Amino acid sequence: MSRLDHVETLRREALRQIEAADSQTLETLRIEWLGRKSGQVTALLRSIPTVPAEERGAFGQAVNALKAEVTARLAERKAALAAPAQARAAVDVTMPGRQPALGRLHPITRAAREMIEIFGRLGFEVVEGPEVEDEWHNFVALNIPPEHPARDPLDNYYLDDRLLLRTQTSTVQIRVMENRPPPVRIIAPGRVYRPETVDAGHSNMFHQLEGLWVEQGVTFADLKGVLSMFARAFFGPDVRTRFLPSYFPFTEPSAELYVSCLLCAGKGCPACKRTGWMEIGGCGMVDPNVFEAVGYDAEEVTGFAFGFGIERPAMLKYGINDIRLLFENDLRFLRQF
Ligand code: DAH
Repeated sequence: MSRLDHVETLRREALRQIEAADSQTLETLRIEWLGRKSGQVTALLRSIPTVPAEERGAFGQAVNALKAEVTARLAERKAALAAPAQARAAVDVTMPGRQPALGRLHPITRAAREMIEIFGRLGFEVVEGPEVEDEWHNFVALNIPPEHPARDPLDNYYLDDRLLLRTQTSTVQIRVMENRPPPVRIIAPGRVYRPETVDAGHSNMFHQLEGLWVEQGVTFADLKGVLSMFARAFFGPDVRTRFLPSYFPFTEPSAELYVSCLLCAGKGCPACKRTGWMEIGGCGMVDPNVFEAVGYDAEEVTGFAFGFGIERPAMLKYGINDIRLLFENDLRFLRQF
């Protein structure tokens, strides 16, 4: 083997050992290769003067280059071993990429967006209102008198003697009509708050979707048409609707909207208390007192309003049996949607 080949063989061996070294064996390796007394590279350096003159130049260069390379590699390896494990992994460009965790829409957001989209097709514009309200917008302008049970302090989250967390999105009807002349055709999704005892079917914070259409010549037939169309678009083409007479201070006449039970298709089951029907919201023709409160002329325009919860329809549609699941933010639950 020529002298240069010998240097190359040693070089390969040194680099292989350095690459495989851990922090304990690295110093041993340094002594073995570069040690002043018996290092292998040191021995080569010492042998330079003994090499025949015609080979000495090339040999000397190769040995000096070997010393520089081994020194540099030892330092590199030392730095790499000192770096935290994670940082080393982060610069390993040969690793496959990590899939970023993708979020998804919360079932309430999904249901609300779907409702918004359906009403959007009928020309309803989305409006929002504040969650901290005054008594005027939550009660007075909605024709709810002071002695009405809904105003009981125990049934509301009052913040002081004037402000409360809104109990219904009907407040937004008032805010819109106060701020613009008819016609209006709006929906108002949002959170509402009531001091309820929390159980599988009740939460003290939940969401509603309010709707209001005021224009010349709007009738109860429009109300039924719009809400029946909504029910079929949201729950499916086979769903049936019915309107039962009811009472709300801000509508006259008033009704409750029922859809045929989604679980038993109307045959009667525990979920619909064997009636075959499920109540999903209130509705009615806007009471003239409400128009008067906002400065609309009840002789000029008519309108209808409605309000649904968002949770209940979402639970029916997605097969969720406990409202609390929607607010616990357990990813094992949320990932299913
Ligand atoms: N605000 C009522 C509630 O929270 C729901 C409601 C009923 C809204 C009738 C309406 C309506 O707009 O016309 O129980």
